[in-house]
Amino acid sequence: MIPAAGMKRASAPAKAILFGEHAVVYGQPAIALPIRSLRLEATGRIAEDGLTRFHSAATGECLSEEDLEHPIVGAWRRAQQSLARALPAAHYEIRSRIPLAAGFGSGAALSTALLRVGHMLAGRPLAPARLSELVFRAEQQFHGNPSGIDNQVIVHERPLYFRQGAAPQFLQLAVALPLIGLRGGEGAPTRAVVAHVRERRAANPEQMDRLLAAIGALTQESKLALRQGELVRLGNLMDENQRLLRELGVSSPEQERALEIARAAGALGAKISGAGWGGQVLALAAPGELAALTHKLRAAGYQPVFCEEIAG
Ligand code: PMV
Repeated sequence: MIPAAGMKRASAPAKAILFGEHAVVYGQPAIALPIRSLRLEATGRIAEDGLTRFHSAATGECLSEEDLEHPIVGAWRRAQQSLARALPAAHYEIRSRIPLAAGFGSGAALSTALLRVGHMLAGRPLAPARLSELVFRAEQQFHGNPSGIDNQVIVHERPLYFRQGAAPQFLQLAVALPLIGLRGGEGAPTRAVVAHVRERRAANPEQMDRLLAAIGALTQESKLALRQGELVRLGNLMDENQRLLRELGVSSPEQERALEIARAAGALGAKISGAGWGGQVLALAAPGELAALTHKLRAAGYQPVFCEEIAG
């Protein structure tokens, strides 16, 4: 659709962490994918009355800057706080198919799209590296100590090999990944699950560091499998990563059930994605089997949140 005069429009994708969540917080590498078919879109126009307002097309809610508890307003305020110069007052409309707080990166996608539109309205569009930094700062206010993987993959929309403190490496995938995202129950706040892992590590540093390093090693191996297009090996690595995530204590019974169903339906591999304790589950289909696996999952009562051939 062409935006009306004075209206600006921007969107951002969801994300899935394919390998290395939690371990990435402790300096291990992780791999994340943009989910381009699952998006959040924001439009905005300058508010003549000087009052910033938000309208969520998904819920019909009309919100003002005072609605601090609402995720949209919260994301906006955090984004504003990360800026040196305030953005103009505007009316924003948000449409999103990304589930909230379930490991799909809804918060970073919202900050990305709102900041893009706000800066377009201000007549100073943001370069991707700067936008990613601002989204990271907004995420810091929300999560406490995010690794920085979400802002990078969502702003750049490219498969990403990420390690804290190093420049992001964008990956060229040898073949498209037939991937399905499901929901295994409600998600828990990332902050709470990350805190749980931190406490366990403080209580048992050697054992936990071994576990986190083993996840890092799997991530490195999977980078090769992605570059070589070895999907069967990749599926096995996902199953292995899941075994270690279970040991970390971040999986949930609903997610385990979804994983079992996905594997029984023929997935090459399956794991949770994101912080855990409910939320996103990923299933890798065999080449040419994306539609068939989606169909089987639906028949088993799981409506996929996305199914996409992820290209590099
Ligand atoms: O569930 P999400 O989308 O908030 O992802 C969390 C990923 C972690 O590795 C657990 C935390 C992080 O900051 O990387």
